[in-house]
Amino acid sequence: MSKQLILALSKGRILEETLPLLADAGVEPAEDFGKSRKLLFDTNLPDVKLVVIRAVDVPTYVQLGAADVGVAGKDTLLEHGAEGLYEPLDLEISRCKLMTAGVVGAQPTHARRRVATKFVNVARRYYARQGIQAEVIKLYGAMELAPLMNLADEIVDIVDTGNTLRANGMEPRELIDEVSSRLVVNKASMTMKHERLKPLIERLGRAVESRRGETQA
Ligand code: ATP
Ligand code: PRP
Repeated sequence: MSKQLILALSKGRILEETLPLLADAGVEPAEDFGKSRKLLFDTNLPDVKLVVIRAVDVPTYVQLGAADVGVAGKDTLLEHGAEGLYEPLDLEISRCKLMTAGVVGAQPTHARRRVATKFVNVARRYYARQGIQAEVIKLYGAMELAPLMNLADEIVDIVDTGNTLRANGMEPRELIDEVSSRLVVNKASMTMKHERLKPLIERLGRAVESRRGETQA
């Protein structure tokens, strides 16, 4: 196993909040992501490289050992499954909620409740736990449209401010899980590269704590 550490970062909103934490922990990209079409980046540390990929792909990279460490939303991890992954740190960034939601005041019209979502595994588990028969329909985006078009009775989606739901005449219903981004580590890397990973995880933990201190002050 190479001595190099590969970090897989979720692009988009998580990346923007991850970079300051990484910088506090002593890891900075050697060039500006925004100005590059590259996907694999050097850092200020000779033995650390970064890959910037879609959020949904981060667990796969880390699980299969293509990356040693990753940053991914708890929603993505719940949907993907956590086999082969350690989750040593809650980074307390990109906070939101996984919720069910529907059109304001509307009752289900389908005998077997129809649920549109990109989180099909999360949704199936949730409705089964509730003892509700549900037909889960996979969508890749714009879930809020599905109940308006009578494609579904409900959706399972990310809710933060609730603005997207409100703008579409919908309301949040049940909370499925609180979400924030987590540090994940490949299980084999955790053993084989422990000497190198331990200080990185500790420094990131201190960066999270000091930010928590700032937001509470
Ligand atoms: P892609 O752009 O690759 O299709 P995406 O739309 O899921 O992915 P983002 O919208 O950047 O990507 O969301 C990535 C992660 O950020 C989610 O998995 C979730 O953990 C978190 N997230 C999503 N929406 C919000 C939000 N409104 N507020 C806070 N965090 C959010
Ligand atoms: C996310 C999510 C919701 C929205 C919730 O979408 O899919 O639609 O945020 O946030 P709110 O409760 O504050 O409105 P995002 O803004 O990432 O757009 P996307 O659908 O392109 O991913």
